[in-house]
Amino acid sequence: MHYFRYKGKKLYCEDTPLETLTGKFGTPLYVYSHRAIIEHFEELKKAFSLVDPLICYSVKANSNLAILKTLIKQGAGLDIVSGGELFRAEKAGCVYKKIVYASVGKTSQEIEYALKKKIFMFNAESLSELQRINDIAAKHNKKAAVSIRVNPDVDSKTHKYITTGRKETKFGVPLPEAERIILSRANLPFVEIKGLHIHIGSQITSEKPFVRAINKILNLLGRLKQKNIRLEYFNIGGGFGIVYNREKPKTASALAKAIVPLLRKTRMKIILEPGRFIVGNAGVLLTKVLYLKKSLNNKLFIITDAAMNDLLRPSLYGAYHNILPVVKRRSISALPLADIVGPVCESGDFLGKNRRLYCQPGDLLAVMSAGAYGFSMASNYNSRCKPAEVIVKGDKYFLVGRRQSYKDLISKEIMVDV
Ligand code: LLP
Repeated sequence: MHYFRYKGKKLYCEDTPLETLTGKFGTPLYVYSHRAIIEHFEELKKAFSLVDPLICYSVKANSNLAILKTLIKQGAGLDIVSGGELFRAEKAGCVYKKIVYASVGKTSQEIEYALKKKIFMFNAESLSELQRINDIAAKHNKKAAVSIRVNPDVDSKTHKYITTGRKETKFGVPLPEAERIILSRANLPFVEIKGLHIHIGSQITSEKPFVRAINKILNLLGRLKQKNIRLEYFNIGGGFGIVYNREKPKTASALAKAIVPLLRKTRMKIILEPGRFIVGNAGVLLTKVLYLKKSLNNKLFIITDAAMNDLLRPSLYGAYHNILPVVKRRSISALPLADIVGPVCESGDFLGKNRRLYCQPGDLLAVMSAGAYGFSMASNYNSRCKPAEVIVKGDKYFLVGRRQSYKDLISKEIMVDV
């Protein structure tokens, strides 16, 4: 996390001490580095420059409007999965012709919304969805641009919950069925099948699953070519892994080196949908230590004001996030191992386990690599307000998400005396 570094004893984001931000905006607080977001985007763009892809940032990773706007300004399109994300894309100023829309369960209203806005294309995930898109397009006398999301049945060797390219998962259409659909496309007169889409999982650290999946697509393309069918677009999804701890993900250039030759063979226009790669290591979650306590078996708990509702990944996936002091204290020998836990009423509420961290109540901690699937998966569980969000640009900083208030928590409820 290049843009989060100690200068002396203090942890900085770019040229801004994190302590300054918590002083101003309180905790828990998400902080994002503007420079890191742009650099990660540019790194991918450069690595894949030989195929000059359209990079559609995956909104679900971090859907803050200011982040979307930053990436749109860099030339990114957006990958969306709901009407809500389409609304965000619109508000952030994304041109509709750069929006691709995946999801196994698009509702009729969502399809209608996207169709009216003339998005670039739907990534359709089943025949019944294609039929629904066809019917809705017919009703509006429009032709819907679609790619077929193929399930290539490859194991991306990542956490079970975020593996999406194996045949056991709900995602995409099996290869043979995709072929049948494309061959019988005349049955879908209001749909134009423009391409193929895959997304085989997230936090993938090896190039091999991508190579395997793309080779399967190349076989399909070969068969289609024999029948004189050529498709224009190939969307290889996202999933590019980042460093959280000791994993060694392929760099963008190593990944590109392995797969760009295959992509060129397709002779199709290429789309990428990275999420985590761009924002994961561009953000941290800052939290304050509330209390220290020991259990009967001498386990030390560091209780913080951030919890699983703010950052769900450790609880949901057992994900590792490095946790660092915002201001280093003088190191002492023989630190006990501690669990860093939040105030939520679940034993599964933790940010880190068995860490060596010397701290006292009132100290600030930074949960690292929290830019992706952090705030976007936050909830109000235990009626906790969602944190504020800040973007840092050099020594300047901008509040880009206000902390929720108690009023926000109940703003949609109707107190009927039933
Ligand atoms: N495209 C599609 C169709 C997707 O479903 C996803 C993520 C992406 C692109 C972006 O994937 P990325 O480049 O970020 O790996 N909550 C989990 C990750 C879930 C990913 C869901 N789909 C986590 O915190 O690890």
